[in-house]
Amino acid sequence: MTKADQPRLLITGASSGIGLEASRRLVLDGYHLTLLCRTPQRCRETSDRLEDDGADPDNLDVLPMDLADLEDVERSCQQLLERGHRFDALILNAGLQSVGVREPLFTPQGIERTFAVNQLAHQLILMRLLPLLFKSRQPRVVITASDVHNPSSGGGRVGRPAGLGTMDGLHSGAGFTMVDGDSAYDADKAYKDSKLCNVLMGRELARQLQEQGRFIPVMAWSPGLVIPRGQGGFFRTSRQQNPLGLALFALVARDLLRLTETVQTAGELLASLVIDADYSKPGFAYYSNTLLGPGRHRFQSSPTSEEGADASKAKDLWLRCEQLISAVIQVDPPPAMPETST
Ligand SMILES: NC(=O)c1ccc[n+]([C@@H]2O[C@H](COP(=O)([O-])OP(=O)(O)OC[C@H]3O[C@@H](n4cnc5c(N)ncnc54)[C@H](OP(=O)(O)O)[C@@H]3O)[C@@H](O)[C@H]2O)c1
Repeated sequence: MTKADQPRLLITGASSGIGLEASRRLVLDGYHLTLLCRTPQRCRETSDRLEDDGADPDNLDVLPMDLADLEDVERSCQQLLERGHRFDALILNAGLQSVGVREPLFTPQGIERTFAVNQLAHQLILMRLLPLLFKSRQPRVVITASDVHNPSSGGGRVGRPAGLGTMDGLHSGAGFTMVDGDSAYDADKAYKDSKLCNVLMGRELARQLQEQGRFIPVMAWSPGLVIPRGQGGFFRTSRQQNPLGLALFALVARDLLRLTETVQTAGELLASLVIDADYSKPGFAYYSNTLLGPGRHRFQSSPTSEEGADASKAKDLWLRCEQLISAVIQVDPPPAMPETST
């Protein structure tokens, strides 16, 4: 493979969990990865870790991007546009949840943090970096969502269900607590709502691309419940809030009932969506790593929730997010891009 032919992938959330596992697999298979990590330190730690595992440093590029700060997202996107390198896939995988936290946290732009990181930052990345994806002959977009976006899924039934209503919060501009306009914060629902937004974002992106005559696979997917051992990872905030409760939850869900997926398999699934020919069908698709029974999952194409299938809501969400972004940060015109395809 020549340098020019080497597939070039961009990923968020590569510093931990599912994204780290997928990045390891992809970089060891010879793909070139641009890792967007929260801070310069997280960038260094992640590339050191991958190099310790055998990655060729020439196949790694890191760029700090704090998804909780839209100014930072915009700045880093501008840098990538100035460099002008092609991307063959945009892998939007970073995400957080703050279950157990009672009061909402807000970003520097006054956006509730779960929505800002999981949804808004990723839509801004798409809005800015699509020109680099269009340089690819076989582009893909992969978005890590979750089955909890669906009120009839196992996880989606626990607690208050996902639901954006008429998006009154989002309509009201920065400072809202919940997208549906509820002023009472529910961290678990805020997470479910953000994952519903991810599904709708993917659906609307595929529609827009199709309208432009671009037939590109846009996939949202759910890894299943993944509770890695150790201190960091997806449940870090819940563990801080309620260490005993989380330990009990992990013991029951992971070790006794075996309802969880391993982080290694979830990483493999993400990597396969990015590179396998099985996932090259243009348009929107949703895949779920469905739990069949203790220790048994099947990765399959699945319907989204009814709300996640609402094309007009998807269009409205995209537009409202676009308006919110331009209300809270200055979005500069894209710089002139070098013609290079690599
Ligand atoms: N684990 C599950 O059970 C599960 C189930 C369904 C869906 N998911 C989804 O899977 C994706 C990956 O989750 P995971 O389980 O791998 O969790 P994780 O280990 O906590 O990884 C999350 C990643 O997102 C990054 N991130 C969070 N906030 C960020 C910010 N402000 N700026 C930049 N990066 C940020 C983290 O960076 P740092 O390491 O620097 O914090 C980390 O790399 C998420 O979208 C999650 O919603 C997970």
